[in-house]
Amino acid sequence: MQIIDHLEIERQNRFVEQIRLDHKSHHPPGTNPGIRYAIRTYGCQLNENDSEKLAGQLHQMGFLPAETISDADLIILNTCSVRENADNRLFGNLGRLKQRKKENPDLIIAICGCKMKQAEHVERIKRSYPFVNLVFGPQDIHKLPEMLYTCLHHQEKLYSVGDQDTLVEGLPILRSRKFRALISIMYGCNNYCTYCIVPYTRGRERSRQPAEVLAEVRAVVADGYQEIMLLGQNVNSYGKDLENRSGQPADFAELLAAVAETGIYRIRFMTSHPKDISNRLLEAIAQYKNIEPHLHLPIQSGSNRILERMNRHYSREQFIEIVRRARTLRPGLTISTDIIVGFPGEQEDDFAQTLDLMNIVRFDSAFTFQYSQRPGTPAAEMPDQIPAAVISERFMRLLELQNRHSLESNQAMIGRRVEVLVEGASQTDTAILSGRTACNKLINFRIPDLNMLPQSYRLKNNQPNGCALEGRLAKVHLCRAKTFSIEGEMEMLLL
Ligand code: SAH
Ligand code: SF4
Ligand code: F3S
Repeated sequence: MQIIDHLEIERQNRFVEQIRLDHKSHHPPGTNPGIRYAIRTYGCQLNENDSEKLAGQLHQMGFLPAETISDADLIILNTCSVRENADNRLFGNLGRLKQRKKENPDLIIAICGCKMKQAEHVERIKRSYPFVNLVFGPQDIHKLPEMLYTCLHHQEKLYSVGDQDTLVEGLPILRSRKFRALISIMYGCNNYCTYCIVPYTRGRERSRQPAEVLAEVRAVVADGYQEIMLLGQNVNSYGKDLENRSGQPADFAELLAAVAETGIYRIRFMTSHPKDISNRLLEAIAQYKNIEPHLHLPIQSGSNRILERMNRHYSREQFIEIVRRARTLRPGLTISTDIIVGFPGEQEDDFAQTLDLMNIVRFDSAFTFQYSQRPGTPAAEMPDQIPAAVISERFMRLLELQNRHSLESNQAMIGRRVEVLVEGASQTDTAILSGRTACNKLINFRIPDLNMLPQSYRLKNNQPNGCALEGRLAKVHLCRAKTFSIEGEMEMLLL
């Protein structure tokens, strides 16, 4: 592993300075009228956090975000190998960008993220989309100033996807949400679930030093954040690669406790791998009320035979026992999960086991996936791939059951008064605000009387100002349950 220390960041800062000097002389960060950028992010919150670091560096160079992608002089696409199910999304976007590049030859197009660690995608870009200026991987984001400098000054194309795992501290960050600060506590993954590409795109597991994590937490608290989300592919194995220093948090349970002690209002974390969940972690969740009463615990399949083929290292029985213990220790805890349908070799009987487990556990919500082959993973080579028609038929049944459970879970909340952290106004009706409860329920609520809001939170047309309210807390009475959200009425703005 390569530790990117302050020396390397200083070296990069010299490119930052040079770019600022060359482009419209010296403007303070974030005010350079010369170059406007747009970043499109796909995939999980780890990618989102990476994009915030890219934006932080661009801000340092004096660049401003573009209003729309068509106003941008620099477009960065931060890709994902899991969630963008069809590869077509990226290549569809590139097809459209080809025309833009014809109209504006100075447009800089950069592609980064997990997909760029898959050689076949980089090859396809070289072959079919030669107008792309810059390609780099998730381990290279700290090199953006140097890479951009090369593109701007030498008009060179740069394919620079690093293979070495890095751990970078000290990068500037421009956070994209006001209501939640994302904090990556570790990078990479060592688990090699047989369907999953992430260990190949993000490299080996590496934990940040607890002191660095805690310093970042304190900084976002000082910035006024109410909520943080600690991120890692498997947060439960945090610290396994660190030297154990006395007095420092040594594992995730201790780190979480130390974060909770800072007094921040709400702490979220994901993802928890069931094989590594410890009693001490469940006890920390029980002990600190500012840790969310919510656990994202991916089951993937309810069949032990399939779990083994997936290389998950737990059984359905162990999973059910973890859920039982967690719910006993922290009453009111909600549990969400990820489920894959149609893993190679999945028989109707295995699928029935998944439905059966769902009926036992009753997940409050779930991300459901149709298995799709990722070249380079062991499962992609397994002989007994399931036909697409069978997968989609099972998927519909799974969705129907989960939707029923999600609705029931939401119905159980009706009549309660809850604290909702506002995320903004609804896109379809600006009179409605959206936010989440501590247990991660999505709440859409109205304000029965606008006089409940101080003037600074109202727009001229006498609607709530969703932007100003982002990150504020409201007490909401829950009235009506839907499958993916709950409707309510605000009773009071809390802070
Ligand atoms: N680190 C997390 C999840 C990372 S990927 C964990 O261990 O659970 C997010 C989800 O995408 C996975 O939980 C899995 O359900 C799904 N997924 C990953 N690879 C997939 C594939 N090849 N086909 C379908 N779903 C997949
Ligand atoms: Fe992928 Fe498994 Fe790692 Fe999650 S734990 S990122 S599913 S290999
Ligand atoms: Fe996608 Fe990479 Fe995240 S593959 S899900 S962006 S770790």
